[in-house]
Amino acid sequence: MKGHRYWNFVGLLLVICNLHGSAECSMCETCICSSTDSAWIVNCQGKRLEDNNHHRFDLLMFDEQPHLSVLNLAENGMNFLPTDMFTNLVNLKTLNLSGNHLQEIPENAFDQLWSLVDLDLSRNNLTALPERMITKITNLQRLNLSQNQLSVLDPDLKLLTNLTWLDVSHNNIQSLENGSLQSLTQLEHLDLSFNRIDSLGENNVIHLTQLATLILNNNRLVYLSPHELPVSITNLNAGYNMITNVPETLNNLQKLDMEYNEIVELNDNLSLLNRAKSLNFSGNKLTDFPNVKFEKLETLDLSFNKLSVVPETLTSENIPELSTLVISGNPIRELKFNAKLNLEWLIAQSLELVESIEEDAFSNLDNERSEGCLNLIISQNKRLTKIDANAFRDVNLCSLDLSSNNLSSISPGLIKMQNNTGLLKYGVNLQSNPFHCDCTLQWMLVDLVPKLYDAYPQLLDDLKCASPPDKKYMRMLHWYKWKDQVFCEDSQILVSKVVVEAAGVMSQSSETIKIESSTGMLAALIGAVVVLSMLVTVGIVLARRIAIKRSRKNRRF
Ligand SMILES: *[C@@H]1O[C@H](CO)[C@@H](O)[C@H](O)[C@H]1NC(C)=O
Ligand SMILES: *[C@@H]1O[C@H](CO)[C@@H](O)[C@H](O)[C@H]1NC(C)=O
Ligand SMILES: *[C@@H]1O[C@H](CO)[C@@H](O)[C@H](O)[C@H]1NC(C)=O
Ligand SMILES: *[C@@H]1O[C@H](CO)[C@@H](O)[C@H](O)[C@H]1NC(C)=O
Ligand SMILES: *[C@@H]1O[C@H](CO)[C@@H](O)[C@H](O)[C@H]1NC(C)=O
Ligand SMILES: *[C@@H]1O[C@H](CO)[C@@H](O)[C@H](O)[C@H]1NC(C)=O
Ligand SMILES: *[C@@H]1O[C@H](CO)[C@@H](O)[C@H](O)[C@H]1NC(C)=O
Ligand SMILES: *[C@@H]1O[C@H](CO)[C@@H](O)[C@H](O)[C@H]1NC(C)=O
Ligand SMILES: *[C@@H]1O[C@H](CO)[C@@H](O)[C@H](O)[C@H]1NC(C)=O
Repeated sequence: MKGHRYWNFVGLLLVICNLHGSAECSMCETCICSSTDSAWIVNCQGKRLEDNNHHRFDLLMFDEQPHLSVLNLAENGMNFLPTDMFTNLVNLKTLNLSGNHLQEIPENAFDQLWSLVDLDLSRNNLTALPERMITKITNLQRLNLSQNQLSVLDPDLKLLTNLTWLDVSHNNIQSLENGSLQSLTQLEHLDLSFNRIDSLGENNVIHLTQLATLILNNNRLVYLSPHELPVSITNLNAGYNMITNVPETLNNLQKLDMEYNEIVELNDNLSLLNRAKSLNFSGNKLTDFPNVKFEKLETLDLSFNKLSVVPETLTSENIPELSTLVISGNPIRELKFNAKLNLEWLIAQSLELVESIEEDAFSNLDNERSEGCLNLIISQNKRLTKIDANAFRDVNLCSLDLSSNNLSSISPGLIKMQNNTGLLKYGVNLQSNPFHCDCTLQWMLVDLVPKLYDAYPQLLDDLKCASPPDKKYMRMLHWYKWKDQVFCEDSQILVSKVVVEAAGVMSQSSETIKIESSTGMLAALIGAVVVLSMLVTVGIVLARRIAIKRSRKNRRF
């Protein structure tokens, strides 16, 4: 059945070819034609249908293909649409005109496209849509007008009552006219981001009772009124505005992104968002986090606020499912967790005031979930100079990132006392710290460097000494497998003590015996050969002397 229809289609093309000559039949030569059970598909994406003002698409005669259901004309540099381009395409369901240079659409170009469900006009130069066009495509369900030059949300869009999905992001829309979205009651996904909207207006979004995703980021909103937003919303992105409040009435929210707004305080009403799984308040002006329960919250981003301590309201009792916490970029002086919290990821970067981390600072992050372990990122804290050897006591770490701090030394206990082999499951990143490579860091050469070399060589790229002067800028990798305790001794004395040192290193760590023993055996072997050849030489000399003595004796007789 399917095959039969396909051959009909190809047959039709051949007929057209024969009737009109080669130019007209170039549709399936120029584009990719295919078919599925229910659709005839012609894909002309990026075929440069408009080259040097030569409109090849005019010759493709799409209008001769009434059974066409998917037509992709994206990325073709088209400046205009011929009025009759789509006549007869009464079965066309999907039309993609994305990434052309269209400034307008002829008002009757879509007259026959009454089957159209999916229309992508994104990345053109459209300033408006003709009313007549909109009235002809009222079956439309998905419309993408992103990245055009629209300055108002077209009032005629309200005729598209079957729309479930509308993207008008990256335009110049300033305001939504009273009621312009009111009738789009089927809408589930609305993207208004990257415009200049300062108000949603009263009779708009609130009426979209099916709306699940609302994207409002990068506009000029100052307030999210509960009278403007339907409670059906589960995913709200309102980042990069100037909003001062949290829309707590949206109690179906699962994901809320409010980053880079002007929120100064969160109050107990936040607990109304008790279905939230992810909250992002990065880049606001928060000084604290309220003492509320979030049974489902998994991800919380409080970075780049004004927190001066880690809020003690963040406890596993309040937020039992919390697995990712971001507290970077806050004026926190003492990085310490005073309450129990079962995290998988803790990200604490760019804490400009933290100078040291004290004993047991993270001990409350003991992960009690089965097989749970913590990925700890404490990096880019430019004043962080000292970490107590017991700072992570009892914490089961799976990876540790202490890169780009101001650490000149680090205790082996910090890394070795972890369970298993003494190396964290997913590596230890200590790069870009100003290490003072003296004897206290010899363990890094003995223990850490060989293990990183085997498992995570990329974590050695920028693991360098900053002092003493004779080791400045040198990568620790430079001394990979050296037998002597490079960091412990003055470099002149070292050279003469090669063999003795190897034994010393061997006794330092049982882990490194394998590496060292092979070189040790080599040394022993060389020694044996030397002794043997000396014995042979001595033997030869002795034999000669005896022979000479004999010949002298013989001469006497
Ligand atoms: C239209 O084509 C573009 C390629 O330029 C693609 O990214 C986009 O997803 C397509 N739109 C639809 C609705 O398929
Ligand atoms: C839109 O038009 C402007 C000038 O009118 C032009 O500079 C720009 O390249 C055009 N953009 C597209 C995507 O055609
Ligand atoms: C919306 O879709 C339904 C079928 O789902 C259809 O019956 C109705 O005519 C459409 N509405 C409009 C305005 O086209
Ligand atoms: C709309 O088109 C733009 C540009 O092609 C694309 O980035 C965006 O993902 C599309 N919208 C949706 C919701 O897919
Ligand atoms: C919006 O329109 C409704 C009628 O549809 C009217 O009652 C209301 O006053 C209007 N609001 C504004 C702000 O103009
Ligand atoms: C919490 O919400 C209630 C009802 O919306 C409101 O009356 C109250 O002022 C809010 N509390 C705070 C601290 O904002
Ligand atoms: C929160 O938003 C910021 C800014 O957009 C982003 O960089 C960050 O990755 C987001 N946090 C999470 C946990 O997704
Ligand atoms: C980095 O640590 C050194 C001491 O090791 C200290 O002199 C210097 O001031 C620290 N840098 C910053 C930015 O705190
Ligand atoms: C630590 O290792 C020991 C034995 O290697 C094991 O019995 C114990 O369960 C481990 N503890 C954790 C927290 O992984």
